[in-house]
Amino acid sequence: MPLITLGIESSCDETGIALYQAGRGLLAHALHTQVATHSEYGGVVPELASRDHVRRVIPLVRQVMHETGVSLDRINAVAYTRGPGLGGALLVGASVANALAYALDIPAIGIHHLEGHLLSPLLSDPSPEFPFVALLVSGGHTQLMRVDGIGQYTLLGETLDDAAGEAFDKSAKLLGLGYPGGPELAGLAAHGRSGLYKLPRPMLHSDDLEFSFSGLKTAVLTLVRQSGIDGQKTRDEQTRADIACAVQEAIVDVLANKARTALAQTGLDQLVVAGGVGANRLLRARLTESIGKRGGKVFYPDLQFCTDNGAMIAFAGALRLKQQRGGKDYRFNVKPRWDLAEITEIGSNSGAT
Ligand code: KG4
Ligand code: ZN
Repeated sequence: MPLITLGIESSCDETGIALYQAGRGLLAHALHTQVATHSEYGGVVPELASRDHVRRVIPLVRQVMHETGVSLDRINAVAYTRGPGLGGALLVGASVANALAYALDIPAIGIHHLEGHLLSPLLSDPSPEFPFVALLVSGGHTQLMRVDGIGQYTLLGETLDDAAGEAFDKSAKLLGLGYPGGPELAGLAAHGRSGLYKLPRPMLHSDDLEFSFSGLKTAVLTLVRQSGIDGQKTRDEQTRADIACAVQEAIVDVLANKARTALAQTGLDQLVVAGGVGANRLLRARLTESIGKRGGKVFYPDLQFCTDNGAMIAFAGALRLKQQRGGKDYRFNVKPRWDLAEITEIGSNSGAT
């Protein structure tokens, strides 16, 4: 009987639950986003996030079980996001996962959130084959990794300060847009005229694979002030759209350039793009075109699996389950800060350490 893994994601502001069956694929997934809860504060409020996860996890688990007709006693493992993320939010998923696994006498597998993101394109068809380069672009991370297999991740370069998603979110805020800023800014940029404003491309020509986005935020602030739209949500829509367009171009330019350099430096020809910013259409178009021209291929997760979701955790859990030896240890902790390089091939990211 092919193994079935239940996945629970609760690292930030999305509760994601999914069921994945080896050999068959994703059976069902459900997501509750807390955007409405946090939007009035302009960002995620950790305590509100934890409380909402408490309310959502079990009903969403029931929902996917009901949708698939799979009963609890057919589940072979429960995978959950162990980190990185908000401590309280992670604890909700981790404690439900471990309690459920203990009650069912099956393994509980702690998954690294970024491993979930970077393996998520493998859920799509066609999917990349190892080895590939992964561009991980989320609200908290901007990294280029070489991926040789499950758990075989080599960091090629990362941001020295803000993440790409953060650059989108902070610029969006300066333009009077809501949270999360990335999709809002991209929406506004669609009405903008390209090339009217010049913004810096930090470290574009640094010849390495490091990123830096904090200078961009300062440049956007200056531009917003100079153009007299500071704090005026409705004033001069066109100027705001033009600036949004310049911001998006600057971020996408840097990401696309560095991704190309990473492929050239590693000699690999497959790029996987993962994380929330991977939903950005301009980034997708730019990467597909420029890497395609060089004979390379770019893989993206389905749009619904770019941002946080349970499917990527159930899937990573299913892959880890295949590798995992040993017993079931239901002592657990979470890792709000957790370097992806720390996890190794044979499931050392599971259980308590
Ligand atoms: O991966 P994710 O859902 O959560 C983290 O693990 O951080 O990524 C969220 C980030 C946010 O910064 C959000 O603004 C950004 O992804 N994002 C986008 C788009 N959709 C989400 N940024 C640019 N364009 C988008 N379409
Ligand atoms: Zn994420």
